[in-house]
Amino acid sequence: MTQTVKIGKSNVVTTPLGLGTNKVGGHNLFDGLKDENGVQVVKAALNDGISLLDTAYMYGLGKSEEIIGDVTQNYDRDKFVIATKAAQDPNNHLKPNNDPKFLKQSVDDALKRLQTDYLDIFYIHFPDDHTPKAEAVHALAEEKQAGKIKAIGVSNFSLTQIKEANADNQVDIVEDNYSLVHREAEKEELPYLKAHQISFVPYFPLASGLLTGKYTPADGQHFSQFSAEQYTTIMQALEKVKAIAVNHQATVAQTILAWYIKDPDISVVIPGARLADQVHSNAQALNIQLSDDEFKQIDQLFKDF
Ligand SMILES: NC(=O)c1ccc[n+]([C@@H]2O[C@H](COP(=O)([O-])OP(=O)(O)OC[C@H]3O[C@@H](n4cnc5c(N)ncnc54)[C@H](OP(=O)(O)O)[C@@H]3O)[C@@H](O)[C@H]2O)c1
Repeated sequence: MTQTVKIGKSNVVTTPLGLGTNKVGGHNLFDGLKDENGVQVVKAALNDGISLLDTAYMYGLGKSEEIIGDVTQNYDRDKFVIATKAAQDPNNHLKPNNDPKFLKQSVDDALKRLQTDYLDIFYIHFPDDHTPKAEAVHALAEEKQAGKIKAIGVSNFSLTQIKEANADNQVDIVEDNYSLVHREAEKEELPYLKAHQISFVPYFPLASGLLTGKYTPADGQHFSQFSAEQYTTIMQALEKVKAIAVNHQATVAQTILAWYIKDPDISVVIPGARLADQVHSNAQALNIQLSDDEFKQIDQLFKDF
């Protein structure tokens, strides 16, 4: 039976594995992307039964949404879940804007690019420094009432901003930087979300590819956020994950993704992909059942992050 999760207080239901699409049309963020690969990435996800597609205006300034809009015309609308985001204001140097009028226009623009009547999840992508967060969310509650969106999300908000946004218990989902090597959210944010029935989606779950196991001890310079000592710890931990992966005839990436899927504090894990083969491989994570002991072992291997 397909595993499913429900998003916050909404009636949106999805698979616990989604697809991150910043490398689908995200030419402003990454060099050397090909749109045709992006098309194949989205098709691979939908054909493999991955239902949630995580996109944003910012990924190609609308291009990622347009590619997804084109591809999804050939699929039943009730078989996939679209999550998109906006805040970067094209009329103000892409600075974050949470003004109610701007957010409502952003919803309409995204609906057009995605060629759909509703967005399953709409996130405020980044906080601005002037709009009261409860006011911004109130505007989205009106969009929900109007049937244009089904769940309200925020991303990159501090915990204080999340609380302000959720003053009337209307936030359904939060997306933030979190992975086994970036665990800050575990301290205060995740307990708050759990207590308020808000789903959590981590971004950078594979630490931009580092946790796939494809990098070597000599590649540390590509990951300057980690000290040399931390990088060595990660390399050693990944060797141990490899041993667990072998028990499941799985890859390191699949095993790491299975860890997030098993974690009750995580709602949907959305690894990004440049190529369709990566999607096909990552989709296999849905078939891996880690034991409680394996889950704890992996947790402990990365406990210092
Ligand atoms: N809300 C926000 O502000 C925010 C910010 C960032 C990201 N996001 C979302 O979160 C998603 C996930 O983050 P992310 O994509 O940046 O990072 P990620 O999921 O940690 O890493 C994805 C990258 O790892 C590599 N990869 C993936 N699967 C692989 C496999 N099986 N084998 C080998 N390499 C593999 C690919 O890059 P290469 O092939 O190039 O190595 C892929 O693009 C994004 O796509 C986006 O939708 C949201």
